Amino acid sequence: MKKIVVNSALGILMAGVFTSCGNNSSSSESSNASDTTSKVSKAGIQQSDWGETDGKKVFLYTLTNENGVQVKISNYGGTVTSFVTPTKSGASSNIVLGFEELSGYLAKPPYFGATVGRYGNRIAKGKFTLDGNTYTLATNNGQNALHGGLKGFDKVVWDVAPIDSATPALTLSYLSKDGEEGYPGNLKVSVRFSLSDDNELTIDYEADTDKATPVNLTNHSYWNLTGDAKNTILDHSLKIDADKYTPVDTTLIPTGELKPVKGTPFDFTEPHTVGERISAVPGGYDHNWVLNHKMGSMDLVATLSDPSTGRKLEVYTTEPGLQFYSGNFLDGTIKTSFGTPIQKHAALCLETQHFPDSPNRPNFPSTILKPGEKYHTTTKYKVILEK
Ligand code: BGC
Repeated sequence: MKKIVVNSALGILMAGVFTSCGNNSSSSESSNASDTTSKVSKAGIQQSDWGETDGKKVFLYTLTNENGVQVKISNYGGTVTSFVTPTKSGASSNIVLGFEELSGYLAKPPYFGATVGRYGNRIAKGKFTLDGNTYTLATNNGQNALHGGLKGFDKVVWDVAPIDSATPALTLSYLSKDGEEGYPGNLKVSVRFSLSDDNELTIDYEADTDKATPVNLTNHSYWNLTGDAKNTILDHSLKIDADKYTPVDTTLIPTGELKPVKGTPFDFTEPHTVGERISAVPGGYDHNWVLNHKMGSMDLVATLSDPSTGRKLEVYTTEPGLQFYSGNFLDGTIKTSFGTPIQKHAALCLETQHFPDSPNRPNFPSTILKPGEKYHTTTKYKVILEK
């Protein structure tokens, strides 16, 4: 694999169009940036203090590979806050929405970069029946439960396993107690992030439980491969290896049908720009694609490209589904570090997952984890530079 060489000014460049919330002063941004510069050269992982919430310490981890590609992850929400890679012109910038300060996340942005759980995406009316018991979940999206409820895994402080400074890998764990947000069972979750020298961020999710419970973990990074939130993602080209998708009702709950994409704006089996047919999709793309590959096998399922920077993102997963969300609800309320409002379609999500509302859909692959079983899924985001 051809190595990408990143110049030593990476730390300065990564001051980042995407990083920081609108309230931060530019002086705090530049001190962060020069801080980063001094740490950038060595491959491995660095820990820095990032504040405190819920009486717990929050840290920011910088994972650097030998090409100088850097991913920052916090134990608050298991959140990927930045992913800095080069462009074909030799510059570097951050390709995910994120903030430099913890305060940006405490203001509850819509899951920027977060680890989402206990159940990624929606469960209809926040209810499901399991082994004869009906469970009522916290509802936080109209009448539905979304992304784990009012205080999902994205809003808790995770425990951190000891790090090895020479290895760009981080393992976070969290005990979600029986009854949390209405879910049954004590669920022990661990998520391992690792950055390879092939510019792959691999995320391994594991969990076990002491009562049967639905589990559906994902990462909610918002990608904009131009590295500039002023640009929309409408010119990004997307390919999804899926012949079917799950149509939804007006509350974004699947109807249960697995519908062929052929002849519809949902057909991304060949690359199309996001914007090409989006006006034919009411509200924009916010759907689950039924991936063609065999569930459990680690395969390339989606490719996103931005010709302007030469960046390509490949998504590999063991999961059966992919939620492609085109940033429809971003509305300019949240701002970048330079005060740029993050507008509709400023970024998009490619959330690998089981299908939404699976606990109420016996025809969908099961999301139920039982005592004695091990939940284990893997997703890999690989960034490639095409010259
Ligand atoms: C959902 C969207 C939601 C977004 C942010 C996506 O996974 O499908 O409907 O607005 O997350 O919460």
